[in-house]
Formats: sequence, C-alpha cells, structure tokens
Amino acid sequence: MGKKVLVTGAAGFLGAHVAESLVKAGYQVIAFDDLSGGFEDNVPEGAEFVKGSINDVELVDHLFKVHEFEYVFHLAAYAAEGLSHFIRRFNYTNNLIGSINLINAAVNTGTVKCFVFTSSIAVYGAGQSPMREDMHPLPEDPYGVSKYAIELDLKAAHEMFGLNSIIFRPHNVYGEKQNIGDPYRNVVGIFMNQIMQGKKLTIFGDGMQTRAFSHIDDVAPIIAKSIEMPEAYNETFNIGADTPYTVKELATLVCDAFGVPEMLEFLDVRNEVVNAYSDHSKVHKYFGHMIKNISLKEGIDRMVDDAKAKGPRQGSKFKNIEVEKNMPPAWKKLV
Ligand SMILES: NC(=O)c1ccc[n+]([C@@H]2O[C@H](COP(=O)([O-])OP(=O)(O)OC[C@H]3O[C@@H](n4cnc5c(N)ncnc54)[C@H](O)[C@@H]3O)[C@@H](O)[C@H]2O)c1
Repeated sequence: MGKKVLVTGAAGFLGAHVAESLVKAGYQVIAFDDLSGGFEDNVPEGAEFVKGSINDVELVDHLFKVHEFEYVFHLAAYAAEGLSHFIRRFNYTNNLIGSINLINAAVNTGTVKCFVFTSSIAVYGAGQSPMREDMHPLPEDPYGVSKYAIELDLKAAHEMFGLNSIIFRPHNVYGEKQNIGDPYRNVVGIFMNQIMQGKKLTIFGDGMQTRAFSHIDDVAPIIAKSIEMPEAYNETFNIGADTPYTVKELATLVCDAFGVPEMLEFLDVRNEVVNAYSDHSKVHKYFGHMIKNISLKEGIDRMVDDAKAKGPRQGSKFKNIEVEKNMPPAWKKLV
C-alpha cells in the first residue's frame, strides 16, 4: 500500500492531473471534491473518490482521522478571479474558510508531513510584473486576498505547529480535462466552447492584454513531485510558461487549430491586469529537469482534441451573485 494522500478539487482540472501523477507514482489517493466545478469522470482510475465539501468540517475531520494522510494537496477552490468581486462571501467561505478547515485537520491529526497549496499569481496585484516570489504581495481582488491569507496562515501554522507546506502560484493553466463551460474563467476553454457552438469569440477590450498560457503538463507533474523534495518544503514557487501572448493572438491560434475563420466580438474593457507575467527562475532551479516548455500551439492542439471528443458545454450564470454593482455587462446578460 502506498502512502496516503488527500487531493482536494481532484475532479477539477489541475486536481485531476495532480491526482493522476500521484496514482502513477504509487501513492494511495483519496480524491475529494464536491463537484461544484469538476466532473467525476476526471478523477483518475486508481484514486478513491469521496464526494463532499471542504466546508463540511465533520466530513473533513473524519477523513483525516480515518486515513491519517501523510500528504495533502489542496486544490479545491472556485477560481473565478474577476467574478470574485461580485461573490465576495462565497469566495471567502469556499476559498478561505474551506482551506482553514483542512489546515486545522492537518494540524490536529499530526500525521501530515507536507501540505501543498495552489495559490495564484493573483496574490501579487497589478503593476508587479515580472512577478517574483520575493516581492511583497498586494492582492487586489477577493480571490487573491483569500489565496494570500492562506499563504500567511500556512506560515503561521508552520511556526506554531511545525506544519510543513509548499505554495505554488500558477497562472493561466490550460489543457485537457479543463471545464470549458464556465463563462467566467479560462479564456482558452471559453474560446473553444464558443467555436463549437458556432458563436463569435468574445474578448474584453482590444485583446492586446497579455498572458503566458501554461500547459497543464508543465504544471501538474511538478506540483505532484514536490512532496518528494524536502528542500522545497516551506518555499513558494511561481509556476507556468514564460512566453506572453496577447488574447487576440490566442484567439487566432485557437481558430487555426479548429480550422475555422476568425470571428471576434470585442466587449467593453473590464477591470483586469493588462500584462501579467512572472519570473520562473526559482521553479527552474528546483524542478528545471521536469519542465517541458510545451508550446502554446502544441498545447492548444492537444486540448482541441479533448474538447472535440467531449463536445461543447452549456455554460450558465453563477446562481448567487451577491453584488451586481459594476459587473461587466456581458456577465449581467448571461442566463
Ligand atoms: N487554472 C489556473 O490557471 C489556476 C491558476 C492559479 C491557481 N489555480 C488554483 O488551482 C486550483 C485548481 O484550479 P482549477 O483550474 O483546476 O479549477 P477547477 O474548477 O477545475 O477545479 C477546482 C475543483 O474544486 C472543486 N471544489 C470547489 N469548491 C469545493 C469545495 N468547497 N469542496 C470540495 N471541492 C470543491 C470543484 O468542484 C472543482 O472540481 C485552485 O485552487 C485554483 O485557485 C488555478
């Protein structure tokens, strides 16, 4: 029997890939997810699926007590950064309090050797590119605030209780198994879903904002492997691709991959960082041998095959918007 590992958010995109790497490496994986944003068929064969929420304290405590996990990979979250302004209570309940429930259980159980947390480059805030791990984070939206709060809490839990952790700050990850039906996040998937529904590709502003889109195979295997590298314990890593592309360039690549003419619809500018890119020298130093540098074209081709096999997904409006004020009109119109 391999060592017992908890992966939260394991029916989601990153979580499923991390769980898959862990199963392949011989770990006994408990895949925990409430299916609010993921799909049970994403959970890799060989992992034991438990449906439930990180906000169910009784269930969380029970799982830790029964399984005595050696490692925890905490990826469950609702990661719609832009939308988080308008679902503030939900964001903090799910992404902050839910995370604290897991940290409490890890401390109380005392068996956890390392708690791996997927934070985000959202912790840096605007005007900090290239973002480096030694910069002082200044998150500007509730999603980034909750991620940074958990980073600080993990630091406190290490100092107070000796709980080791590793923090990853990924950005713009795309690839197979991603939910292409969420209209609020994952622009690569949104474009693919729009093409498969014969719709125009919607772009906020002029499309000249840049992002370094990162293929899942350059991210998930490193996160999974990190627990075997004690020198990475209690360290923070930016992780993802180096080469920035404009959202308009991305639209061209996705249309080419589907072999369809480019039909774009430009929406009002939304409040977002224009150019976001981070420095990856630290992750290269520790995990350089695992980085494949998958090109955006290759990554998109792979994802297109997966998206075509699954077909379009019906996206819908987030049910409980808490604040309507200043919401992008395109989101207000969703049904
Ligand atoms: N995808 C990216 O580009 C990116 C970038 C930075 C950080 N991250 C972080 O990586 C993690 C995974 O992101 P993803 O892109 O795979 O998202 P995802 O939505 O595909 O996966 C998240 C999973 O968490 C589950 N979940 C949400 N709330 C839950 C709860 N209360 N209890 C149990 N399960 C719950 C969802 O059902 C979903 O399956 C998140 O923490 C996210 O903030 C992702």
